[in-house]
Amino acid sequence: MIFFKMPKMSIGNRTLPLPIIQGGMGVGISLAGLASAVAEQGGMGVIAANGIGMIEPDYYADGRAANIKALRSEIRRARAMSKGLIGVNIMVAANDFPQLLDTAIEEKVDALFMGAGLPIKNIPVARIRAANVLVVPIVSSGRAAELIFKYWQKTYHDVPDAVVVEGPLAGGHLGFKAEKLQDADQALEVLVPQVIAALESFQEAFHKKIPVIAAGGIFTGEDILRFLQLGAQGVQMATRFVATEECDADIRFKEAYLKCAPEDIVIIKSPVGLPGRAIRNKFLDNAAAGVRNVKRCAWRCLDQCDIKHADYCISVALDNARQGLLDQGFAFCGANAYRVEDIVTVHALFDSLKHEYEAALVGDLVTLKDEYLQTIENRLAGLRRDYRQARQRLCRLGAEYSRAWERKVNSIIEEYHKARNLSDMLRDEYESAFKKLNLFKERFPEKLAELQALLRQFQTDLVLAPAL
Ligand SMILES: Cc1cc2nc3c(=O)[nH]c(=O)nc-3n(C[C@H](O)[C@H](O)[C@H](O)COP(=O)(O)O)c2cc1C
Repeated sequence: MIFFKMPKMSIGNRTLPLPIIQGGMGVGISLAGLASAVAEQGGMGVIAANGIGMIEPDYYADGRAANIKALRSEIRRARAMSKGLIGVNIMVAANDFPQLLDTAIEEKVDALFMGAGLPIKNIPVARIRAANVLVVPIVSSGRAAELIFKYWQKTYHDVPDAVVVEGPLAGGHLGFKAEKLQDADQALEVLVPQVIAALESFQEAFHKKIPVIAAGGIFTGEDILRFLQLGAQGVQMATRFVATEECDADIRFKEAYLKCAPEDIVIIKSPVGLPGRAIRNKFLDNAAAGVRNVKRCAWRCLDQCDIKHADYCISVALDNARQGLLDQGFAFCGANAYRVEDIVTVHALFDSLKHEYEAALVGDLVTLKDEYLQTIENRLAGLRRDYRQARQRLCRLGAEYSRAWERKVNSIIEEYHKARNLSDMLRDEYESAFKKLNLFKERFPEKLAELQALLRQFQTDLVLAPAL
């Protein structure tokens, strides 16, 4: 059913059939083989440019030239193998960043992914636009995204086309301090909405959609769904693509993923000056113990790395690992590398990601339906309860009303009876007094007249008596 399928993803004027970008993996882990296989399946394949010249025999004669030659040839090889979208990942911190950028522009790749530093200064924006190449910085915070976009707006009157936000579970070099990697506020689930918010005003100002691509620890189709639901338009995955037949690394590099346990995945302090996530081995144990393992420096490929103090050359160590020489180097990996069980084709990996995504979406909808039904049932139960309570209250009030009414009527009746008794009593008293008066009048009429005459005489005598 079309409804459950993974959506397409648009970046600038390009459309990806599936919202999956294969993260660039240096040194030499994602070359034309892996990138074209991913592009063929509808994702974007990405060639990692840093140290790519190490696959050339003349790298130690001229590292810069070898990098350019190898990058050009890998882009062309990938184009020949797929009509899909192909990007290039370049480390901003690399000393030949401008030359690698120029090469990718000349080869008109679909997108430039730029990380390990802020892609702000001396970016040939006019040439990038003329070549119709998309620009996608890799950041680890909303602040970094805002900084890049502000700089671009002010300096180039333009902004990048998308942003990869890489969380602390990613592989390779990490954009966090080692002690911050476990912080809850650095989780990818927190960073994605932060970066989306940071880009809002630039989308409005430039009238364009700037998709956010989530990266770091995304392992299953269910994870992809989760980050799309959080507002990301796509995901960047790397660890899962290592264990594919088409991945350009030696089989021993891939097997290191199959064999590793969670406790083998460690954070190292890389000579680049950043923490990195890798599979622990003797080489790394020696480096941690201070055993220096530097034979020579082909050319100073990184400003931050000083061969006099570095424990090893990171490019050489990674290139050795790519070739399967894991006793002379180490494998970078994401935090979920221990979950890798098989080496499969890129096609099979995409199939399982799609199925997992669809199953998760169906599961989500079933859960949503169940939650909805549950909500309605709870609401109905609540209404039933409220109705019962209201009815009980009504009965109680009715009973109280009739009780109050009865009490009032009884007291009135009682008062009436009291008044009635009083009036009866008064009437009786009046009647008996009246009777007594009449009896008195009847029995003593002559005495009464005599008394009255005496009284009159007395009053007259008083008036006539001489004054004393
Ligand atoms: C072996 C390996 C090498 C990597 N090399 C690079 C690199 O050269 N440049 C870069 O920007 N990111 C590099 N990364 C990071 C990935 O591109 C990606 O963003 C990240 O690993 C995604 O997390 P995941 O591996 O859990 O899927 C590398 C990752 C791995 C596993």
